[in-house]
Amino acid sequence: MFAFLVAIATSIVFAVAAPASLDARAGAPIAVPVRPILDTSKCMGFVGGVYANGTQVDIFDCNESASQSWEIDGGNLPGLTSISSATTGTDTFCLDAGLPANYANGVQMKIWKCFSGLAQQTWNKMASGQIQLANTNFCLDLTNGDLTNRNILQIWTCTAGNTNQIWQVNSPQ
Ligand SMILES: *[C@@H]1O[C@H](CO)[C@@H](O)[C@H](O)[C@H]1NC(C)=O
Ligand SMILES: *[C@@H]1O[C@H](CO)[C@@H](O)[C@H](O)[C@H]1NC(C)=O
Repeated sequence: MFAFLVAIATSIVFAVAAPASLDARAGAPIAVPVRPILDTSKCMGFVGGVYANGTQVDIFDCNESASQSWEIDGGNLPGLTSISSATTGTDTFCLDAGLPANYANGVQMKIWKCFSGLAQQTWNKMASGQIQLANTNFCLDLTNGDLTNRNILQIWTCTAGNTNQIWQVNSPQ
């Protein structure tokens, strides 16, 4: 319980410590960690923290790095945008499921330059804790339930109660 509270407190402190330029905007999204419910000491990030088209999205021990900090917008996730590239003036990168024609169980997740409204970068957070790819029945999925660092995330058919698909997003809402 104590560790859990510390984790919450840490994430709040981290969220508050996000770049002031973003937080200062009224109603602006903030950056938060996205954690698998199976182990909330793990966070969604991307391999090596490399900001590039196609870098695979993985889980890793939470370490408060910018690459584990995702910008969300309200109760929905119109994009899961990694925030830090915005602060360096380069492209921003979003969680990306690849071309819709190729959606299938087991497709690995990556980051790609964010494009507003792009279907493969549009995700909805469900009340169940699932993060559903918009207009599909695919959900962000912890591959094989494997919590090992650098396990690459995938999409899989949304299934009620599948704990591989339940994520803790420390939303302010
Ligand atoms: C933090 O985690 C990311 C993966 O999410 C990893 O690339 C990076 O090397 C880690 N940083 C440290 C300091 O461990
Ligand atoms: C990423 O890909 C997009 C096209 O989808 C392109 O416009 C952009 O320049 C690429 N960014 C990098 C850093 O290669």
